[in-house]
Amino acid sequence: MDEALVKEIAILKKQHNAVILAHNYESDEIQAIADYTGDSLGLSRTAAKTDADVIVFCGVFFMAETAKILSPQKKVLLPDLNAGCPMADMITAEKLRAFKAANPGRTVICYVNSTAEVKAESDICCTSANAIDLVKALPVDEKILFVPDMHLGRFVAEKTGRDIICWKGFCPTHMKITADVVRSARQRHPLAIVLIHPECMWEAVQEADEALSTGQMLAFVKKSEAKEFVIATEKGILYQLRKDNPGKEFYMASPDIVCPNMKKINLLKVRDALLKMQYEVTVDRVLAVKAKQAIDRML
Ligand code: 13P
Ligand code: SF4
Repeated sequence: MDEALVKEIAILKKQHNAVILAHNYESDEIQAIADYTGDSLGLSRTAAKTDADVIVFCGVFFMAETAKILSPQKKVLLPDLNAGCPMADMITAEKLRAFKAANPGRTVICYVNSTAEVKAESDICCTSANAIDLVKALPVDEKILFVPDMHLGRFVAEKTGRDIICWKGFCPTHMKITADVVRSARQRHPLAIVLIHPECMWEAVQEADEALSTGQMLAFVKKSEAKEFVIATEKGILYQLRKDNPGKEFYMASPDIVCPNMKKINLLKVRDALLKMQYEVTVDRVLAVKAKQAIDRML
C-alpha cells in the first residue's frame, strides 16, 4: 500500500509542480519521500527560493506559516491542520505587547517556533541554528526580550553574556531530557559524543558535549571521526543520521523523546493534500508583511 501511495504522490507532485519539504523530526516514511529535509532555518531558506507552485509542508503549523510568509504567491499545504507546536502557542501577540510594555527599550527576538502575529510584533526572528550569531551581531549594550522559549533564551544568554529577559515558554518534548537523563546516557555509552538540542534545560545542556540545531547535528556527525553518539533530541532525526553515517552508532538519550505533533503527518495525508489541495495555510496580508520583516532580518 505504501508503495502505491508513494507512486501516486510522485505523479500528483508532478501534476501540480509541487515540492515536499519535511522537518528532521518527521517520521521515516515522510522523510523518505521529501524533496528536501532540514531544520527550521534550512526549511525557511528552501521555502523562500523554491520555484514550485505548491509547497507541501511536512512539519508543524508555524513552519508552514513561515513558508507562506516567505512565499506568499505559492500555495502552502499542511497535510494535517492539527500538527501544531505547543511552545509556539505559549505566547500571543497580546501577551507579547504586555511583555514589551513591562520591559520597554528592549529588542524583541522571537524564536521561529512562534505564530505569525508574534513574529509581526518582534524585531528579529531566529532559529536554534543562528540565535547565538544573531545576538552577537547586535551592539553589546542592546538589551533583549526573547520569546517564547525560555531554554533557548537562557542558552543564548549563557553563551553570549548578553542581557536577555525570557518569556516562560518551553517545549514539552525536550523538557523530558533532564540533566539526569543525559548523565545516565553518558554512563551507558562512555565512548559516545553527547549531542543535545538547545531547547533542553540549561542544566541538561551543560551535561552534553555539543548543543546544536538538528541541521547542525547532522553536519557535526558527518564531519566527526567519532563512531558513537548519544542523541538528546526528538528521535525522528535518527533517520537522516543513520542514512548519512552507515558506520556510526546512535543511541537515544531516552526512548520517549517524541514530538507527537511531528508524527501526525503520514503518506495517506500527503497524498490527500496533493489530491484535494488541502489544507491551505493562509496568513493575513498586513500581518504577513510585518512578520516577514523579522524573518528577513534573520535570513
Ligand atoms: P531545529 O530548527 O533545530 O530543527 O528545531 C526545530 C524544533 O522545533 C525543535 O524542537
Ligand atoms: Fe514544538 Fe517541541 Fe515539537 Fe519542536 S519538538 S515542534 S518545539 S513541541
